[in-house]
Amino acid sequence: MKAFEPVNIAGISFRNRIIRSGTYEGMCDENGYPGNDYYQFYENLASAGAGGIITGFAYISGEGRAMQPAQAGIDSHDKIAGLRTLTSRIHRHGCPVILQIAHAGRQTVSRVTGMPVRGCSSKRSVYFRSKPVPFTTREVHDVINKFAEAAAYARAAGFDGVQVHAAHGYLVHQFLQPGINNREDEFGIDPQTGIGSQFLEAVISSVRQRCGNDFPVFVKISGGEHFETIIRVLDRIRVDGIEVSYGTMDFPFNIFRGEVPVDLILAKNPFFATQNPVVKFMNRTIIDQWFRPQQIPFSSAYNVSFARNAKSITGIPVFVVGGFRKPGDIEDVLTSGDADLVSLSRPFVAEPDIVLKMKNDRNYQSLCRNCNYCAVMCDSGKPTKCYQT
Ligand SMILES: Cc1cc2nc3c(=O)[nH]c(=O)nc-3n(C[C@H](O)[C@H](O)[C@H](O)COP(=O)(O)O)c2cc1C
Repeated sequence: MKAFEPVNIAGISFRNRIIRSGTYEGMCDENGYPGNDYYQFYENLASAGAGGIITGFAYISGEGRAMQPAQAGIDSHDKIAGLRTLTSRIHRHGCPVILQIAHAGRQTVSRVTGMPVRGCSSKRSVYFRSKPVPFTTREVHDVINKFAEAAAYARAAGFDGVQVHAAHGYLVHQFLQPGINNREDEFGIDPQTGIGSQFLEAVISSVRQRCGNDFPVFVKISGGEHFETIIRVLDRIRVDGIEVSYGTMDFPFNIFRGEVPVDLILAKNPFFATQNPVVKFMNRTIIDQWFRPQQIPFSSAYNVSFARNAKSITGIPVFVVGGFRKPGDIEDVLTSGDADLVSLSRPFVAEPDIVLKMKNDRNYQSLCRNCNYCAVMCDSGKPTKCYQT
């Protein structure tokens, strides 16, 4: 099967074409430093057959931290040593590893970052609610520089490449969207293309300048509005690979589809959990009346149409993530040429050895039932794990 054939992309030898997609781990200390749980977790994944690993998002600067308190950081030189331990423990098993680098922008809370929430504009996110303070032009240049520095630290720590998180409504994605980006400086919306790609382009170019052209740079983007225009930009600036996901954290259950576990959200989610029965009733109503109607139901391989579209525009390798639960679905997308690699998140949460299981049984069905407990619990400060298996 093509799924289990190795493939070389930008000099990285992926052992097979089933990749672990970026998934927040919740295993670092409050300053973003990894420890043994984090190393062991990744060593288990690497030893259990994944073709390659993309880490959970790591923040490039203090104000760019996400709301999850145990997120990894790649914001200072002294993070290199711990991450070098990580990469050597993963490489021991012949598995490549890419660090996902991210800035949360408006999708965070001051309570965790200890700083004001920042964004490309002052427009609020539906879910995070805080009004962001827009970056000045000079500050935007500083953030670009922080991305380049983070990539250089990643290279020094032995990562095989970096993936710039430009999906799910985080800062790079905020700049891209005309509904959010109302800037009037050089980072605003380009009237020719209708998107704000200058920030993304500057991030990639400064990473290239700092790390050299031989250090692979991948980008994760969301299907949805302006998708084709974004692909054309990535094609023009020649990134090394594009991972296709979906949506923003305004409606998180459209990124990871399936159940909306309302009782768990009302008990654990920092924005919705409350002891007050009246507020609880109101929050339940908000979820039922506002979030649920906008929810797209789960279907297998749910981002493939976007990947196919990307492949029709660019020759850059395309990864697709979202709803892959059976070897047959993975094989179909690879043999039809709709994507070059497939990536999985929740199935690896449920079973770190899912690739070995799929290899041994071509009819294997992931134990992941899309209950989304893992997704809800990761916002509540707990390590990411499967709460059902
Ligand atoms: C618990 C959890 C944590 C996640 N963390 C990240 C992350 O750090 N970076 C990222 O790009 N996507 C993250 N995602 C999204 C996944 O990478 C993926 O796009 C989505 O879950 C759909 O794929 P799946 O059906 O294989 O789970 C996360 C998803 C879950 C459920």
